[in-house]
Amino acid sequence: MKTHQFEVLVVGAGGAGLMAGLYASRTAKTAIISKLYPTRSHTGAAQGGVGAALGSSEEDHPEWHTYDTVKGSDYLGDQDAIEFMCEEAVAAVYELEHMGLPFDRTPEGKISQRPFGGHTNNVTGKPVMRACHAADRTGHMILQTLYQQCIKNNVTFFDEYQVVDLLMTNGKAAGVVAIEIATGEMHVFQAKAVIFATGGHGRIWEITSNAYAYTGDGVAITLRRGIPAEDMEFFQFHPTGIYKLGILITEGVRGEGGILINGKGERFMEKYAPTVKDLASRDVISRAIYMEVRDGNGVNGKNYVYLDVRPESVNHYAALDGRKRPDGSPFVVTGEEILSKLPDIVDFCRVYLGVDPITQPMPIQPTAHYAMGGIPTNQFGEVKKDENKTIIPGLYAAGECACVSVHGANRLGTNSLLDIIVFGKHAGLRAAEFSKGADFQPLPADPTAFAQAQFEGFLKGDGRENAFDIAMEMKKVMFDDMGIFRSGKGMQNALEKVRELKERFKHVRVQDTGKIFNMDLINAWELGNLLDLAEVTTVSALARTESRGGHSREDYPSRDDQNWLKHTFAWVNETGKIELKYQPVTITKYQPKARVY
Ligand code: FUM
Repeated sequence: MKTHQFEVLVVGAGGAGLMAGLYASRTAKTAIISKLYPTRSHTGAAQGGVGAALGSSEEDHPEWHTYDTVKGSDYLGDQDAIEFMCEEAVAAVYELEHMGLPFDRTPEGKISQRPFGGHTNNVTGKPVMRACHAADRTGHMILQTLYQQCIKNNVTFFDEYQVVDLLMTNGKAAGVVAIEIATGEMHVFQAKAVIFATGGHGRIWEITSNAYAYTGDGVAITLRRGIPAEDMEFFQFHPTGIYKLGILITEGVRGEGGILINGKGERFMEKYAPTVKDLASRDVISRAIYMEVRDGNGVNGKNYVYLDVRPESVNHYAALDGRKRPDGSPFVVTGEEILSKLPDIVDFCRVYLGVDPITQPMPIQPTAHYAMGGIPTNQFGEVKKDENKTIIPGLYAAGECACVSVHGANRLGTNSLLDIIVFGKHAGLRAAEFSKGADFQPLPADPTAFAQAQFEGFLKGDGRENAFDIAMEMKKVMFDDMGIFRSGKGMQNALEKVRELKERFKHVRVQDTGKIFNMDLINAWELGNLLDLAEVTTVSALARTESRGGHSREDYPSRDDQNWLKHTFAWVNETGKIELKYQPVTITKYQPKARVY
């Protein structure tokens, strides 16, 4: 067993982890531990843009961004944190620009912005251009830029180390345990402050835009250490994933004029969101697609619809909508422009589907995309251990694994990249500041024991069960019964199934018993994380007897602010039972009202 010591330790090297590491490293000895090589992190899959009210081409204000985010969250987002994020957004994007991020440009040389779902001019209600983009590779560019900055700032990286446990002493963070994937060796990292930036858990669902690595490790590890998970019932389905594969087709396609068409050739979003149409928020559009398919309006009777960005279609509907360029000229696009603004999307469709989006519509279906819930934190990344906002000294979380909560029940597109840069930065700053006045906590006598026991189980199991089969069954039931629409009966079925799978999981034995790059073993452990989070998600969802944002119940179709304007906190107690408590939503300026698009 090898040991290491750092003042600040960041777990995860996506945008939030890199931003946290960068800021912490300015004043504290900092390391980042990542299960992947950093630039392979899932932030690289974020395509269409990062939200900030720069007003490059038209009027915009952080206050409008704040209101849109509150409304998009279906009033479950904490308004103090949302205000903070939207105010910080403008400086954060300019900071990325100054670090060298190659944003697209307007003809005048400003950062180019495109419309995205739910982002509006608060006076007219019409879409506003707020997504700052680098083609359809914005997340990729953020990753590359931040990684370079971290290297320049001498952050120490432990690449391809899987963190498997959090060490706590006297109720304070003391370090983590990680497996070096190349050797199978356990390492103990002692730290004054630990920041989890481990990403989401979309691999619970059958059709997902999420990377293989998105297995909810941080939330599962902290749950095992008695820390609650907040608002886990809220998981976002992005409306446009490649049919059957789930790979993301950016909302930027609709920002560039693309429209959704059902099997009858109708532009159906006019029915569901008459003002913003194809640029309504994601929960609204995902439900609309689901209802079109359910009503027999899928393409060829199947469970998909078309996303159409062919120039002739874009130009036709832009003319009908009276859409104009910022200089007042009609909105007209060519195939070359589509290709230059959406190169990856065109490429994905050509490669994976044999469909050319310049001449053919793209078959799409909603895809599990983003966890609104996670480790409860305040806006400085400090982890809350209970519904009374009590802070755990030395423990921080940022990015998708954290619940600040700025996304509430439904996140607006572009606010995930914003979340990682704003809250990653503040978690890094706060952790570094904390570490200056703190001592290292003593480590437990046998720091790896808890993690070792989990892994030994996979080597000694009776082998009656197979991890792959369990994973497939979990994904299917979660997609069918814990997806876009839910019901008490369906969720109960999902819960029973997940619990049965958790029992069967105890009988899994991995085939590979070696130490070097044993992904069989790591993947089995990751599946355990997904099963734990699937159960917490389902229990939290069953308790919430209303519909709000991404949690849409056929048996409780209305939002119920009287009883449910509150955050769920879920704990797993020593016997494995899940306990729920609640915390009121922070309301500052905006009283809840019905969402109309
Ligand atoms: O549609 C997209 O480009 C996804 C962005 C996001 O999830 O914010």
